[in-house]
Amino acid sequence: LGWPEFRQTIAAYYNEAGLPTSENQILVTNGAQQAISLVAALYLQRGDNVIIDNPTYFGAIDAFRAVGARLNPLRVEPKGIRPDALRAQIEASFPRLIYIQPNFHNPTGAVLSEKRRREVVQIAKEFDIPLVEDNTLGEITLDGETLTPLASYATADNHYIITIGSMSKLFWAGLRIGWIRAAEPIVTRLGRLKVMNDLGTSVVNQVMANRLLATNAKIKVARQLELQPKLELLTNLLAEMLPDWTWTRPRGGLFLWIKLPIGDADTFAQVASRFNVTIIPGNIMSVDETHQAYLRLPFLADAGTLTEAVQRLARAWEVYLPLLQTERTLTKVIV
Ligand SMILES: Cc1ncc(COP(=O)(O)O)c(C=O)c1O
Repeated sequence: LGWPEFRQTIAAYYNEAGLPTSENQILVTNGAQQAISLVAALYLQRGDNVIIDNPTYFGAIDAFRAVGARLNPLRVEPKGIRPDALRAQIEASFPRLIYIQPNFHNPTGAVLSEKRRREVVQIAKEFDIPLVEDNTLGEITLDGETLTPLASYATADNHYIITIGSMSKLFWAGLRIGWIRAAEPIVTRLGRLKVMNDLGTSVVNQVMANRLLATNAKIKVARQLELQPKLELLTNLLAEMLPDWTWTRPRGGLFLWIKLPIGDADTFAQVASRFNVTIIPGNIMSVDETHQAYLRLPFLADAGTLTEAVQRLARAWEVYLPLLQTERTLTKVIV
């Protein structure tokens, strides 16, 4: 299940956050990505329904599709998913699993509101459906906010909430260390699956991760101080060079979720790639190919790169707008 000392450190990390956890509730994984894949392998068979927030992290879409699951989208609002929509979806699709990111959602940066957290947990309990909360970005606060896992809103006997964590965003994705926190019997079953997959995660990496996780609180502040000015810079550059683009300022995470005033981000991404800027259009992060008007811009890069990127995007936008006109005229002619 992982190097015992590291599992203890992860358990202590949750205990300090106010979520009572024993080391037996922890399975160390090769990043959050493996955690999602293991959960998919344990719970899902071809044709099973999964309720998933939309847009969402594309790696989760891939992992669920790889086992043949059917994905039922749940719209993410600035306050997260709507509990009434979740209930309606459950009643309509009888899902085997719910996957959401309550904390600093990728790509929108949304945070599930306090009231909605309680309701969402209550609904998962009422229908007894495993609820996977992916908190990979949950520590990346931009305003110093501390968000607790959904599991801390559940009763102590809960077996329906599965929490995923990762070292990737606060420390280093190259470590390939993440984990699952769940009820002991679930951790045991996931552990068996993991052994079949890879015989276990590198102990060397776990030893490094163990040391790093102890510095969590300090690094969280350092990360905030590093990211805040970058977000500030990116939004200032966009306001100046692409004033028609709009967004809601994220409270955490690494991305700006931008709405284009016109056109579709997929085609625009192709134009941007001619200027050597890679952007991810919203439809790739949607399970139903919606969100074509959105794109995701990360603000992790240094000031020079961010400035250059926005300058190039502005040039690409100038090229794209007339193309859009031509496309419209052609469509009209063809119709
Ligand atoms: C929401 C979310 N989940 C999981 C992952 C995968 O993380 P890891 O590097 O820990 O596998 C990412 C990475 O971007 C992510 O944003």
